[in-house]
Amino acid sequence: EKEGYQHFMIKEINEQPKGVSETLMRRLDKEDHIVLDGIELTKEDLTHINKIYIVACGTAYHAGLVGRYLIEKFAKIPVEVDISSEFRYRDPFVDENTLFIAISQSGETLDTLAALREAKRKGARILSVVNVVGSSVARESHDVFYTWAGPEIAVASTKAYTTQLIAMYLIALHMAKTTDVICDEYYQKVIGELKILPEKIERILGDIDRIQHLADAQFNNESVFFMGRGVDVNVAHEGSLKLKEISYINSFAIAAGELKHGTIALIEDGTLVVALATQDRLYEKMLSNIQEVRARGAYVVAVAKEGNKEIEKTADVVLYIPDTMDELTPVLSAVPLQLFAYFIAVARGCDVDKPKNLAKSVTVE
Ligand code: F6R
Repeated sequence: EKEGYQHFMIKEINEQPKGVSETLMRRLDKEDHIVLDGIELTKEDLTHINKIYIVACGTAYHAGLVGRYLIEKFAKIPVEVDISSEFRYRDPFVDENTLFIAISQSGETLDTLAALREAKRKGARILSVVNVVGSSVARESHDVFYTWAGPEIAVASTKAYTTQLIAMYLIALHMAKTTDVICDEYYQKVIGELKILPEKIERILGDIDRIQHLADAQFNNESVFFMGRGVDVNVAHEGSLKLKEISYINSFAIAAGELKHGTIALIEDGTLVVALATQDRLYEKMLSNIQEVRARGAYVVAVAKEGNKEIEKTADVVLYIPDTMDELTPVLSAVPLQLFAYFIAVARGCDVDKPKNLAKSVTVE
């Protein structure tokens, strides 16, 4: 079943070009119009929606964070992202003008299902992004967007995440196009770039030795922290979760602008910092954050766009992703972080596919 791979996780990491491509291409017609089968969001529907909640757990929540950025940027509708177990107990303001988006690989996560039911009871329109066909979340939603990741066996989610991101691009672009808030040229540009992401992921996967060497040198760290700005911080959270869940290293993620507000106190000689610096718009700010931690002795692994040679002067190691628009980097930058977590866990002799204390689908509170 592992088709020659040592673990399901690495097999599934390698299946991402296919999953991303399937999730995307099945929704584009010959003219690159988005066709969302099973989703009935008309212009009329969308004009009534004045608020969107995206609700999920774990990795799916991290995909939701990117979803917020995309919907606000492309479709100009305010979005709040919440963790399912918080949303369901906090009496959020939800009415008939609310769109509730649940994201769940399994479609069986109890807290997400309960949050969905609560929102539905209050009159919200329910759209879900689900990988498992016919699962509870899918069945109880008004509209369903199926990711085409294929079965995900490893407990740590990888291909489900990148396909959830593609779902968010398509949903956000579809909303933007339906309500005419996005210009054609920009829409075409984003779609064009989305279509070449699978080959760009392929390129990252074709050059994993560097990441493996880095992991082999860094696996002994007992804590790691991730930082980024803009959409990079969302990916930083996912990179950190991936690492902690399979390698048991104490890791966390922060918005780089928050460094000075506390976390910088932790930096000492040799502290491992993973800095995402893929956003052209925020690059200078990020560079100074990298300098700040390096000045205090941190060992910095940066994730940057190919062609950015300058960052090599500041970071200790640079993991490159192929160049793309700032809006699209998460689908690429997630991949080196997955590989980094994977090789570190392997180097530490961990049970990668079945981390201790974790279950693939959390159907209890
Ligand atoms: C992390 C991981 C979990 C799940 C979370 C939600 O790698 O797998 O954090 O993302 O339990 O599960 P689903 O998406 O099935 O609702």
